[in-house]
Amino acid sequence: MRTLRTPAELRDTLTPHRRAGWRIGLVPTMGYLHEGHLSLVREARARADVVVASIFVNPIQFGPNEDLARYPRDEAGDSAKLRGAGCDVLYLPEAMYADDFSTHVEVGGPSAGLCGDRRPGHFRGVATVVAKLFHLVAPDVAVFGQKDYQQLAVLRRMVRDLDFDVEIVGCPIVREPDGLAMSSRNAYLSAEDRPRALALSQGLEAAARAMSAGERSPRRLEAIARAPLEAANLRVDYVEARDAMSLAPIEEPQGPIVIAVAAFVGATRLIDNRVMAP
Ligand code: PAJ
Repeated sequence: MRTLRTPAELRDTLTPHRRAGWRIGLVPTMGYLHEGHLSLVREARARADVVVASIFVNPIQFGPNEDLARYPRDEAGDSAKLRGAGCDVLYLPEAMYADDFSTHVEVGGPSAGLCGDRRPGHFRGVATVVAKLFHLVAPDVAVFGQKDYQQLAVLRRMVRDLDFDVEIVGCPIVREPDGLAMSSRNAYLSAEDRPRALALSQGLEAAARAMSAGERSPRRLEAIARAPLEAANLRVDYVEARDAMSLAPIEEPQGPIVIAVAAFVGATRLIDNRVMAP
């Protein structure tokens, strides 16, 4: 695996591969990698001839009171994990923005509500950095996790609306054995908070069971998913049922729905979601 740090190195390395007709796969990340990230690398490995992973803690997707400064980092550990998962090129830029950087990608539609409302500017920052990575790498396929369900919908919309020539692949959420969705931010959880974080996946599991048993009301399903969060004394940011395809708010489910959850476990904001069909 080669580690590259500049756009020029990236172009010099990838251009011959592209000319040879090799398929290029891209997995964008912010590092501190876990099995969820590595599942994306393996998916890219299966779909492409050259697998590029990027690690960049993207400052413009963090709000002023968020965790940019303390976001966990582990360059050596991440490199070893990527090599083990079959990554060919690690792109590890020191910076991605000029001091007077002033161009952004603003996606409407699925950016509305959920994290889009709670984290103003977040999806604009995500779309902008992913658009830059798409231009730098020119991947044939790019792989993202359903853990960030709204992010995936936003990026699909960006690709469609701006005619990026890249296939977007979404991969299932990888969980800890007890159900907690893997996240780099789980590293913030204290020993006391760790068991309380289970309320997110447990609420979603309970809602999925209720739907299987015939419950169709989105508001009642939201209440079922919310109950364990409140029982564990978590500060709930949102619990919302949306149409799983369009992310539109729903009164009556027409097809599969997604329930998306965001809650603070102590100072740590965690998200989770689950798709369920009537
Ligand atoms: P990051 O949080 O590092 O996540 C990188 C990718 O890993 C995303 O596509 C995310 O959905 C996926 N992922 C995270 N946890 C997962 C899990 N438990 N199971 C499956 N996939 C998981 O998302 C970002 O970084 C950034 O916003 C980024 C897209 C890199 C832009 O800066």
